[in-house]
Amino acid sequence: MSKNISALSGRKGIDESLFEKMGQLTEPEGFLTKEAAQKLADEYLIGDASVYGASTFYDFTRPENKGKKVYICNGSACMCAGTQEDLRKELSQHFKAEEIGEMCCLGRCHENSAFYYDGHNYSGKDAVHKLFGNGQAATAHRDAYNFEAAGAGIIAGAGYSLDQCREIVEKMLATPPEKVLEEIKTSGLRGRGGAGFPIGIKLEGCRKAKGEPKFIVCNADEGDPGSYSDRWVLEQRPYAMMLGMLIAGYATGADRGVVYLRYEYPESIQINNETLSSLRNAGLLGNDILGSGFNFEIKVVKARGAYICGEETALLSSLEGQRPEVRVRPPYPVNYGLFGKPTVVNNVETLANLPWILTNGGAAFANIGRGRSTGTKLLSLDSAFNKPGVYEVDMGTPLSQVVNELGGGFRKGVKALHIGGPLGGLVPVHKIEDLTVDFESFANNGFLLGHASIVSVPENYPMVAYLEHLFAFTAHESCGKCFPCRIGSVRGKELLQKAQKEDFKIDRQLFEDLLFTLKSGSLCALGGGIPLPVYNALEYFEEELKGYFEG
Ligand SMILES: Cc1cc2nc3c(=O)[nH]c(=O)nc-3n(C[C@H](O)[C@H](O)[C@H](O)COP(=O)(O)O)c2cc1C
Ligand code: SF4
Repeated sequence: MSKNISALSGRKGIDESLFEKMGQLTEPEGFLTKEAAQKLADEYLIGDASVYGASTFYDFTRPENKGKKVYICNGSACMCAGTQEDLRKELSQHFKAEEIGEMCCLGRCHENSAFYYDGHNYSGKDAVHKLFGNGQAATAHRDAYNFEAAGAGIIAGAGYSLDQCREIVEKMLATPPEKVLEEIKTSGLRGRGGAGFPIGIKLEGCRKAKGEPKFIVCNADEGDPGSYSDRWVLEQRPYAMMLGMLIAGYATGADRGVVYLRYEYPESIQINNETLSSLRNAGLLGNDILGSGFNFEIKVVKARGAYICGEETALLSSLEGQRPEVRVRPPYPVNYGLFGKPTVVNNVETLANLPWILTNGGAAFANIGRGRSTGTKLLSLDSAFNKPGVYEVDMGTPLSQVVNELGGGFRKGVKALHIGGPLGGLVPVHKIEDLTVDFESFANNGFLLGHASIVSVPENYPMVAYLEHLFAFTAHESCGKCFPCRIGSVRGKELLQKAQKEDFKIDRQLFEDLLFTLKSGSLCALGGGIPLPVYNALEYFEEELKGYFEG
């Protein structure tokens, strides 16, 4: 069934994609009307139920979105900073309650108090005053944060001019694709989106796979609340990422690239579309690039608000206009990906490393970092730090250096760092000294480097409420395909809510069973990953949590 839908929605290819049309038809009303859904079903020869199933999935296409005019960020960092209640009060003076929606997350974790209005993101009450107070347009929206590189600074140094882009493309075209692939494999570069899978293996698999066309998909759905390092790359180093896609296409024989970019980053969407135009105008994108016979075209597709679309197979289903449920693997995307064609999906930061590898060689890259964690890593630090911002460090750098030197320590009391998004580990502050920024150090200590965002849990923030937030997030974002996650996340949320509100203690054995079922029975790392921070909390904050449990 799903294969048939892939084939049908793929008839018109990525240029007239069902998903994009659905999004566009949604914009006037905020959701997909019955008439518009019927029109789409007829045009794409797909059942109404398929269109209904897809359009009711996303935060910004489902009927509940009707009439929303302004959205408040409900991500973990804004929640821990405690800014959103005041912001809601402020916005309530200008909007009815039903006109105020929620978004997760706007990537303004460095200053919080974040909201979205009319295609732009803002922070702070002063922006509310400027926007709505006297009708004067807020032109400057606060978005100032630090960026610093300590070490090799691979991404920091990738702020290429168009002339430099041309030199990189010329070098690529003068190198045989097999050699480019070999250099990438030698580099040992592992995916920066969370799983840490070597990109060279994916590229090689796609190169060998049969089927045309082949796709390079850039996962720019950065959904982990607390992370905004991809946003930094998308807005400050867009050429590096686009060139990375071009290089990946050259190495695999793909001629199409798609950037799946989250709705919640409107500024990034605009910048990336402008970047593509300038690359096209310079002859560095499109047909017969620099007269070489190599064709590669890239398109930015605006996502519609669903955390699970960051999971690569859900992302592909989304791009096809299907309800974005996670797919069973195998087959892997390199063999059966977008519209059933060989596809490589990689993260923004991963791809942005490729121009450096092409220019400096894989061995030079492999010399940076530690062990199997080669190269550098970007981290994003929230507003609890004295110097919130995005920092690039060599893999293997002590975490304490990031926290105390780059981040300048904490502005206020913090008891734990939630590193690597909602599925990452909860690191109690006394463990900071034990960790270095690399995949192995985190895994060996029972945590997860993931995408390396840092959300600080304040000393006075109840851990039980934080765990409830994690289960609530999972329940909201679960794609519903497998029951451990679909049901288990809701049960976890209910138990933790009940324990806070009533004279009720959670049966510890039952809770452990729930975590075990989620961990071992879930199809993807959303349901499978959420137990990690919960286990960490049970271990390191036992004293604080024990009053909520019995047995
Ligand atoms: C629930 C979930 C959400 C994810 N969100 C993202 C995301 O926002 N960005 C991303 O690059 N990878 C995300 N991933 C990982 C992707 O599935 C995939 O591993 C990644 O895009 C591959 O690129 P990389 O190897 O360059 O990291 C997510 C995974 C899961 C299970
Ligand atoms: S674990 Fe959750 S998000 Fe992943 S496939 Fe199962 S229901 Fe979907």
